[in-house]
Amino acid sequence: MNPSKRRTVIAGNWKMNFTPAEATAFINEIKPMVAGKDNCDILFCAPYVTIAAAMEAAKGSNIKIGAENVHFAPKGAYTGEVSAEMLKAIGVEYVIIGHSERRQYFGETDETVNLRTKAALEAGLKVILCLGEVKEQRLAGITDEIVGMQTKLDLADVSAEQLKNVIIAYEPVWAIGTGLTATPEQAEETCATIRRVLALMYSEEVAESVTIQYGGSMNEKNAAELLAKTNVDGGLIGGASLVAEKFTAIVDAAQ
Ligand code: 13P
Repeated sequence: MNPSKRRTVIAGNWKMNFTPAEATAFINEIKPMVAGKDNCDILFCAPYVTIAAAMEAAKGSNIKIGAENVHFAPKGAYTGEVSAEMLKAIGVEYVIIGHSERRQYFGETDETVNLRTKAALEAGLKVILCLGEVKEQRLAGITDEIVGMQTKLDLADVSAEQLKNVIIAYEPVWAIGTGLTATPEQAEETCATIRRVLALMYSEEVAESVTIQYGGSMNEKNAAELLAKTNVDGGLIGGASLVAEKFTAIVDAAQ
């Protein structure tokens, strides 16, 4: 983390978990546990049907609620999709785009991730853009090339001004839900690579201001070590974001 240059953001990705009632109970439980811990932004990205209940429960607290995806078209014949305007209309501020599970199971490509990112930014949403290499790519020694390419393609035609509303989540696919965490050194190295690519695309100054999170089996035990790294500005947390004590411990590690 480097709080003098950029905001630390601890975000939960609930994935396909929590009904509205479960989300309400969870937010009510964790609200007092994270109250006043203002050295980082705290948010949970929720399934569409759970967002309203979670927002209602989080009202007046330091917890924000986001979505887990958004479509790129403003409206139309896209069964099952939700537009950026719709998210804005219910008061959503953040949206995850390009999560590896979307890329892996739902055919998302860098092209659709870029379209979704631009649509979200144009609608005034803040984007958590996920990218990262798969195991074979890391073993082949091409992690830097992969994340560099994803950064360039996913952010194509995104202006420096719009980039102020983008958080990048570096999530090595081999570390997601596997219990295998990148070492702090691996996380630092790849987050620094992403920042170097941003410096080439925009400028050194712009790159230094972008929050880059690490995600992939981040938990209450490894968070402090990961967050101690200069280029790791927060976490995008899956499993541990469903357990109030675990998530709070990660927030504490960011204080
Ligand atoms: P886990 O923390 O469960 O590995 O999930 C990480 C993730 O995919 C967050 O988006």
